[in-house]
Amino acid sequence: MVRYARISRFVSLFFVLFVRETLQFQYKHHSNEELIETLEEVHQNCPNVTRIYELSERSVRGVPLWLIEFANMPGHHERLKPEFKYIANMHGNEVLGRELILRLAVYLCEAYLNGDKEIQSLISMTRIHLMPSMNPDGWQLATDTGGKDYLIGRTNNNSIDLNRNFPDLDRIMFSNELNHIHHNHHLLQDVSSLRQPLQPETKAVIRLIMAIPFVLSANLHGGDLVANYPYDESRSGAQQDEYSVAPDDETFRHLALSYSLYHVDMADPKRKGCGDSRSDQFAKQGGITNGAQWYNLQGGMQDFNYLSSNDFEITLELGCEKYPPNHVLMHEWKRNKNALVNFIWQSHIGIKGMIYNLKTKEPISNAIIHVRNVTNGLHKDIKHDVTSVHDGDYYRLLTPGQYKVTVTHEKFYPRSKIVVVKNSLYMPALRVDFGLRPLSPLRIQEGYGYSMQISNSFESLIS
Ligand SMILES: *[C@@H]1O[C@H](CO)[C@@H](O)[C@H](O)[C@H]1NC(C)=O
Ligand SMILES: *[C@@H]1O[C@H](CO)[C@@H](O)[C@H](O)[C@H]1NC(C)=O
Ligand SMILES: *[C@@H]1O[C@H](CO)[C@@H](O)[C@H](O)[C@H]1NC(C)=O
Ligand SMILES: [Zn+2]
Repeated sequence: MVRYARISRFVSLFFVLFVRETLQFQYKHHSNEELIETLEEVHQNCPNVTRIYELSERSVRGVPLWLIEFANMPGHHERLKPEFKYIANMHGNEVLGRELILRLAVYLCEAYLNGDKEIQSLISMTRIHLMPSMNPDGWQLATDTGGKDYLIGRTNNNSIDLNRNFPDLDRIMFSNELNHIHHNHHLLQDVSSLRQPLQPETKAVIRLIMAIPFVLSANLHGGDLVANYPYDESRSGAQQDEYSVAPDDETFRHLALSYSLYHVDMADPKRKGCGDSRSDQFAKQGGITNGAQWYNLQGGMQDFNYLSSNDFEITLELGCEKYPPNHVLMHEWKRNKNALVNFIWQSHIGIKGMIYNLKTKEPISNAIIHVRNVTNGLHKDIKHDVTSVHDGDYYRLLTPGQYKVTVTHEKFYPRSKIVVVKNSLYMPALRVDFGLRPLSPLRIQEGYGYSMQISNSFESLIS
C-alpha cells in the first residue's frame, strides 16, 4: 500500500511538473513548425475549451494557416455568444503580433486551468479565435534574411501585399453614399471585378469571415505604435490627412482606446513617436488614429471586415520595430497583455438579442438591425446596419447612450424599441429581443436562411 501511495504521489507530482513544463512558453521567434507545436501543446492542456483548425487554403508555399479557438463549446456558434478574432503577421516581416498571439493562447489556457475567474468567464461568454500567422511564407523569408529589412518578407510569396489584396468595398460604400443608396452593409455581393487576383491567404481569410459571425476583431502589425480604426480609405483619394469617418466612428474610437489605454505606453503623451511627424502625434491623440488620416489604403482587411460582415475590426501597430529581438519578447508581452484581454471583452458592449417569429417562436436570420442615436435629443441615424445570424441572434456594438433600434425583414412587420446602453466591463451586452409579426401567413413558409455565404457570382470571381 505504502509503495503504491508513493508511486501514485510520484505519478501525480510528475503529472503536475509535466503540465507546467508542456505549457512553459519560450520567449523567442517560433518557426512555422514550432507555431503549430505550441498550439498543439495548448490544446493538449486545455482540450475541453480549445480546438485547432486550418483554413480552406494554404499559403503560396503550402504552409497551413492555423487557428486555435477558445470556447465552452469549441467548434460551434452558440446563441448569444459573440465571436471574436485576432489575426497577426499578415505582413510576414511584422512578427511581434505572431509571438503575442501565441503567448496569449498559452496564457488563456494557463489562466483557465489555474481557476482565474476573469478568464474563465471571458471564455464561457465569448468564442475567441486566434490566428498567429496569416503569412508564414513572408515570415520565413524575413527570418532567413535576418529580420532587418523594412520590406523583405512583407508580401506573400507572389509579391502581393495581403493588406491591399481584399476586394475594395470602401469604393462601393462611398459611391452608395453619393448616390443616396441606403445599402450600407454586407457589400461583398456587389463586387463585380477585382483589381488583382485574390491570393490564397486572402481567399482563406475571406471564407473565414463569411463562415463565422464575428462581432469584433483586430489585425496585428508592426512599424509604429498606434491603434488604427476605419476607414483606411479616403473618400477623395487623398493620400493622407483626410479623416475618413465611418458611421460607427464613436464606437471605433472607443474600441481603439480600449486597446491603447490598456497598453503600457501606447497612449502616453510623453513617449516618443517612431520617427516621423505623424507618428509623433499618435501618443497625443490617446494612441489612436483614423486610418486615412494617417495614410490612404485600398483593399485592406480592416475595412473589408466592417463592410462585408457584421464584424468591427481595428488595426494594431505594436511597435516601431518590425522584427524585435528575442530578448524583448517577454517585456512586450507584459506591455500588451492587459490590452489584448481588455479588447476581447469589448465584444460585449452595446446590445444583443434574439429575433424571432412572434407566431411560431422560430428564430429569424438575416433581419436587419438599424440604430438611431437619440441621446440627449439627437436624431442621428448610424448608417451601418447589422443582421441577425444563423440562430436569429444579433450583436450590435454601441457606446453608452440612448438608441432607437429598428428591426426589419421583408417577410415581417418592422418593430422598434428605445434602449439605454450603459456598458459595464465583464458583463454581457444588454439583451434586447424582438418578436416580429409575419406580414402574410402564406409567405412565411418560404424559409429565411442565413445568407452570409459567398454568393455564386463572387464565388466565380475568386475560384
Ligand atoms: C475536461 O472535461 C472532462 C469531462 O467533463 C473532465 O473530466 C476533465 O477534467 C476536463 N479536463 C480539463 C483539463 O479541464
Ligand atoms: C518565395 O520563397 C522562396 C523560398 O523561401 C524565396 O527564395 C523567394 O525569395 C520567395 N519569393 C518572394 C517573392 O517572397
Ligand atoms: C450617440 O451620441 C452620444 C452623444 O453624442 C455619444 O456619446 C455616443 O457615443 C453616440 N453613440 C454612437 C454609437 O455613436
Ligand atoms: Zn503591416
